Amino acid sequence: MTGLGFDGKVVVITGGASGIGEASVRRFVAAGARVVFGDVQDDRGRALARALGPACRYRHADVTVERDVAGLVDDALQRHGRLDCLFANAGAGGPGGSIAALPVDSWDAMFGLLVRSVYLGMRFAAPPMVAQRSGCILGTASVAGLQAGFGSHVYSAAKAAVIQLTRSVAAELGEHGVRVNCLCPGAIATPIFAKAAGCSPEEADAGLPALRELLADQQPLPRAGTPEDVAEAALWLAGDAASFVTGHALVVDGGLTVGRRWSEARARFAALGDALRARAASERTDAPAAVGAAPPCLAGPSVGS
Ligand SMILES: NC(=O)c1ccc[n+]([C@@H]2O[C@H](COP(=O)([O-])OP(=O)(O)OC[C@H]3O[C@@H](n4cnc5c(N)ncnc54)[C@H](O)[C@@H]3O)[C@@H](O)[C@H]2O)c1
Repeated sequence: MTGLGFDGKVVVITGGASGIGEASVRRFVAAGARVVFGDVQDDRGRALARALGPACRYRHADVTVERDVAGLVDDALQRHGRLDCLFANAGAGGPGGSIAALPVDSWDAMFGLLVRSVYLGMRFAAPPMVAQRSGCILGTASVAGLQAGFGSHVYSAAKAAVIQLTRSVAAELGEHGVRVNCLCPGAIATPIFAKAAGCSPEEADAGLPALRELLADQQPLPRAGTPEDVAEAALWLAGDAASFVTGHALVVDGGLTVGRRWSEARARFAALGDALRARAASERTDAPAAVGAAPPCLAGPSVGS
């Protein structure tokens, strides 16, 4: 599909061999973009590039390695002469458990993978975009960066850092016509969960139908989020339709973070009402008999005494 303002535009995506990144590679190519994407899963990356044809190129790029990220951006610039969107998306789930038990090495590694990688993408994408006086940098943050309880401590802290880095850099690059935004996906059915639980990428892929069922009731909208939901949001944020949107963290979560779920809230308020009525009734029963006395729950200050 074309007509979304991406015809001939040049897009670089990290972590493009699976999940949200793969869906984004497919979506941007379908919208007419020329895409250069990187990952560490080379077989998958090459197979995807082959399947999508000449508008798409894969290159090995470990986002924790500075020269790999620089190489990805250089590749796009040398081949196509410009850069319209850099989508810093690669990531993985972090080690869980108590803060007291979190190894320092794991903390550093997760910040390297989830935050330093986004900084590197920004660092190398900014100069050509500033020179063009146009472009959009996107990062994949998470609802875990907005609220506690949606990821491990280090994952949550890293994703919050991505959101704030997005705002800070948007303030700088906006003056040059370059926009900087990030996405906050909720529960999206990708291999990330099973891989974090120790499964191989193949096992994680095989488990996706079951994962979609497990995630279907996690948020008000009664289905699991899909990588395509996030890719669609990325396409909009990167495109001309969002040309006045910068420094924004776009939540794509089916309502996961809106607050307590309606059915649960209604049940809790009903239970609270029942408890208050029962308490008032028992106090009425215990009170000394007084003809005409108002029940305690209705008694207020006396008027005119
Ligand atoms: N799936 C969710 O529910 C969810 C929710 C919020 C945020 N996210 C974020 O979305 C992004 C994409 O995750 P996903 O769910 O699509 O998972 P995924 O595992 O399907 O995809 C992640 C990709 O990143 C690649 N990758 C990992 N380490 C890399 C490295 N060092 N260098 C280059 N590539 C690397 C993986 O090989 C993989 O292809 C991540 O940043 C993740 O934190 C996911």
